[in-house]
Amino acid sequence: MYETRVLSGMRPTGALHLGHYHGVLRNWVRLQSEYPCLFFVADWHALTTDYENPGELQKSGNDMVIDWLATGVDPGQATLFVQSQIPEHAELHLLLSMMVPLGWLERVPTYKDQQAKLADRDLATYGFLGYPLLQSADILMYRARYVPVGEDQVPHVEFTREVARRFNHLYGRDAGFEDKAKAAAKKMGSKKARLWNELRKKFLEQGDAEALKRAQVLLDEQQNLSRGDRERLYGWLEGAGKRILVEPEALLTAASRMPGLDGQKMSKSYGNSIALREEPEAVTRKIRTMPTDPARVKRSDPGNPECCPVWPLHQVYSDEARQQWVRQGCTTAGIGCLECKQPVIDAVLAELAPIRERAQVYLDDPTLVNNILADGCDKARRLAAETMRDVREAMGLLYT
Ligand code: TRP
Ligand code: SF4
Repeated sequence: MYETRVLSGMRPTGALHLGHYHGVLRNWVRLQSEYPCLFFVADWHALTTDYENPGELQKSGNDMVIDWLATGVDPGQATLFVQSQIPEHAELHLLLSMMVPLGWLERVPTYKDQQAKLADRDLATYGFLGYPLLQSADILMYRARYVPVGEDQVPHVEFTREVARRFNHLYGRDAGFEDKAKAAAKKMGSKKARLWNELRKKFLEQGDAEALKRAQVLLDEQQNLSRGDRERLYGWLEGAGKRILVEPEALLTAASRMPGLDGQKMSKSYGNSIALREEPEAVTRKIRTMPTDPARVKRSDPGNPECCPVWPLHQVYSDEARQQWVRQGCTTAGIGCLECKQPVIDAVLAELAPIRERAQVYLDDPTLVNNILADGCDKARRLAAETMRDVREAMGLLYT
């Protein structure tokens, strides 16, 4: 079995904001202590939509990585790397492109959605059509089991599963695959092998998912199988070829509860965000000037928290007692809006202070981030080399 690896990437957007922190980064920090994790800067993906403005990809990538580090992503636990520094991603993308039907790519929902949404960009390119396939290469390269992503990215993970299945089906049937699989099954011992074969039949003939699970568990527990035999049996069990590429699963990142300053979702492009390294004065000013319930024109007008973008911030940062204070004070005009906002300001500043402090260490010494990424790239390259060896072999490209 491969380890249960987790992989995720982010396009280099420069400094991150509170929405990233409450949505993605806290999730990464939790995952890194539970699984071997790989997190990377998807700089080629940035080019698929923005090839005219490469700008400073390295700088925006590094700025983003500083924010990962500042919020607790730990290079001692997780592997941090940069996509473009592992050229194997391009090789795998190319090889997969040979066998992926054009229709699969055209039907990925983000393809048409993004073209409609980013109408000012030229997205009628080969690279943009291939966006999900490049993402598949990122994922399959590391045989990742789990891919933490937001809802919008789930179709890309589903697409990746189909690509892996098709690849294994096409290239996992080396000469004598069936015979080799049967011989491998025997190695489980005659009693277990018989049970396993029955479970396999139950799954293949009756679609019994429970039987499939039990058969997989049997394989997991079997100590004496070589990796090749095991992957052959995993594949054969599902009626496919040898499992060369591993089908990933999306780990849905709960939508960030972090609302923006105008009540919409926090996003840099909406201009309603607070950056993780924002100066305290700017944070204070931004929250003090936030719009409130439009019905509260005068201090003496009662308001309704449900109509106020400050309220969702209290729901993130305030305990029940303080929320009660807001509801009570707002609806009776007992408190003013600036008074109401102050605890939110204090909470955001308290949350950002340690992040800013940790970021400063990396800003003061840029070699730190460079070294972390160089180490991570080395590790990633080693893992990528293993997968590419198997892929090249399966496709008849292992020149020796
Ligand atoms: N497409 C992802 C996004 O926009 C970024 C990404 C690229 C990614 N490759 C990936 C995410 C692989 C997870 C796994 O958010
Ligand atoms: Fe919004 Fe608070 Fe003012 Fe009510 S008192 S309108 S919740 S800022």
